[in-house]
Amino acid sequence: MLQYVKVSIDGAIIRTPKGTSILDTAIEYGICIPHLCHVPNLSDIGACRLCVVEHIVNGRSNITTSCTLNAAEGMVVRTDTEKVRKLRRNLAELLVAQAPNSRAIQDIAVRCGVKDVRYPFRNENCVLCGRCVRACTELWKARAKGFVGRGKDRHVDYPFGTRPDFCKQCGACIQLCPMTITPCNGPMKPGEEHLCGNCESQLMISENAPGGCTWCKLGENFACGRYA
Ligand code: SF4
Ligand code: SF4
Ligand code: FES
Repeated sequence: MLQYVKVSIDGAIIRTPKGTSILDTAIEYGICIPHLCHVPNLSDIGACRLCVVEHIVNGRSNITTSCTLNAAEGMVVRTDTEKVRKLRRNLAELLVAQAPNSRAIQDIAVRCGVKDVRYPFRNENCVLCGRCVRACTELWKARAKGFVGRGKDRHVDYPFGTRPDFCKQCGACIQLCPMTITPCNGPMKPGEEHLCGNCESQLMISENAPGGCTWCKLGENFACGRYA
């Protein structure tokens, strides 16, 4: 039988099934926690770290990813403290520098309050979020793609670098990849990358409730949990 617990997120007492992630609980309640690697109904691997929150235990705060933190009775979580905002902003800034040609990542950066990118742009074509690998393995049970290599050589590939016959050609890996959506004004040329910020106006209405989900459409194209 489903067991429910009560958790406190940003002061709101929320009843949720035991074991639901804090990220899913918050999204369901309308509290926006920016996220990238999370996909509803797939396992969470805590890859992007954008969903960090403060988890308060015995008066001490632990920074942790909310997609991998499961709700338990009496849990106290803060999603919008200065410490969290600063960390999230920095993570989002690093992501934009890594992949400025992703509209999804540009959107996330806006949502996280990034105003400037202090790191060199790298124009990589994968941010190792693992969305494609999990969709292939868990949704389609195909296991046609996986992570290969370690450290800076880690990347996503087919077995032996070739698309296998058992790839079902479902397209889920492409659909869920944040790198497949280019910025609205088109791809940014090397040396001309910048923080787009065009969508900032969408966040104006959220000024008084910075942590609230405002159905802002940022992230819609890569399936923000609210739109799934
Ligand atoms: S198209 Fe192939 S590799 Fe991509 S998710 Fe489907 S089965 Fe996996
Ligand atoms: S290919 Fe796309 S979905 Fe797959 S890990 Fe890289 S960025 Fe994520
Ligand atoms: S959404 Fe939680 S670490 Fe990426």
